[in-house]
Amino acid sequence: MHNVDLDLVEMSLDVIKFAIGRISDTDPQLGFPKTAAELSELVGETITEKGIGGERAFALFRDVLVKASVAIDHPRHLAFVPASPTRAAVLFDLVTSAASVHGAFWLEGAGCIFAENQAMSWLVSLTGMPDGSFGVFTSGGTEANLSAMVAAREYWRSLSPGMGPRRGIVIASDGAHSSVRAMAKVIDADVLSLPTEDRLTGQHLRDTLDGMAPDERERVFAVIGTGGTTNSGIIDDLAGIADVCSERDIWFHVDAAYGGGALAAPSVRHLFNGIERADSVTIDPHKWLFSPYDCGAVIYRRPEHARNAHAQEGSYLDIFNDEAIRGFNPADYQIQLTRRVRGLPLWFSLAMHGTHRYTQAIERGIELASIAGRLIMASEHTELVRDPSLSCVVFRRIGWSAEQYRDWTLANHKSGFALVAPTKWRAPSGSETVARFCFINPDTTEEDIAGILETMK
Ligand SMILES: Cc1ncc(COP(=O)(O)O)c(C=O)c1O
Repeated sequence: MHNVDLDLVEMSLDVIKFAIGRISDTDPQLGFPKTAAELSELVGETITEKGIGGERAFALFRDVLVKASVAIDHPRHLAFVPASPTRAAVLFDLVTSAASVHGAFWLEGAGCIFAENQAMSWLVSLTGMPDGSFGVFTSGGTEANLSAMVAAREYWRSLSPGMGPRRGIVIASDGAHSSVRAMAKVIDADVLSLPTEDRLTGQHLRDTLDGMAPDERERVFAVIGTGGTTNSGIIDDLAGIADVCSERDIWFHVDAAYGGGALAAPSVRHLFNGIERADSVTIDPHKWLFSPYDCGAVIYRRPEHARNAHAQEGSYLDIFNDEAIRGFNPADYQIQLTRRVRGLPLWFSLAMHGTHRYTQAIERGIELASIAGRLIMASEHTELVRDPSLSCVVFRRIGWSAEQYRDWTLANHKSGFALVAPTKWRAPSGSETVARFCFINPDTTEEDIAGILETMK
């Protein structure tokens, strides 16, 4: 028993020391994957009948496992959609775990859900959606999009109850995130993907609906506009799409999982006009609102539609409908029952720093994209594929093949300098491999960008 306590103390010290060191490290090791065979060789079997002890397990994590994983907040990690959680949010993520609170029902999580809801109220206020709109924190954009689609589909079915369970159609554009198509599969819906990676307009949507056969058109239960495409930061014509959806009583969902943070940035806020008319909106705090993984959010104009779709029934759950403990139950508004109060790290960080600091950090990401645009155009070897949008920059290394982009990415990653991945750009002339930056971390510098461009020479 005495040994167990000592091990606990040692392990706790190691964990806290690592956490503090990592949180205060502004230039962490980038990390590079190893094969499962290599890791097996280095780590061996860790799950044993007697346990290997906290100190040993932690040493393996610190010295081997985490080094074979990428630090998503590295200032020169500009691939995919990186992340950059605030120190306050990361520390509070530890507190959220330590507090051990069940976040599904007000009965168990009232105080923590109250705090989450204050952060949620701020998110809702950014969208400009009307009074009564509200949302919940989810595991990410995929779950938020799925929860919204289920709510939309159930609403559509409720409009024509005699029709039986028809297969629905979701309309989005080719620029929509892959999770839209993946989640449509989950609910067995079809996706009509409009062939444009550029801004989807209301007119394009109207023409598409007008061109559909009536029985097909009747199956359309949602249109998904994107508030910042993942590939290039394009914001669809949300106001135009909202007009068409309201004319035809079709649920309008905006996927702003990546771009939603920019709602807090005055320099680009006007690009999102029309989002306030959405029926539902996805915003991922773990992308551009500086929360640790995982934290997404889905907001509904009429939360009762989400409750009708998602509230679970079960004899042991009935107690939670008791008047005495009635409050806001996050489980009623998305697909998950037992849940971490994952909005708490965002709440704490917002409460500590104030929303103005968030605005500044997001504006910095947009500024970094325009700095990158300038540097790209100034270099003989590179050119922009399109003007930077939000914090995304799509550009070309003149004369490079797909293999050269791949080798460049690997060389920078392997050396621990940077992780910048190529992407595909679909031009009318065909698909082309190009390079892409996505800026989230406000600590990325102009020198970082210049240094990366230098590696393309
Ligand atoms: C626009 C958009 N929607 C949805 C998602 C999926 O979000 P998550 O990975 O949090 O599930 C992403 C992820 O990059 C995204 O950019």
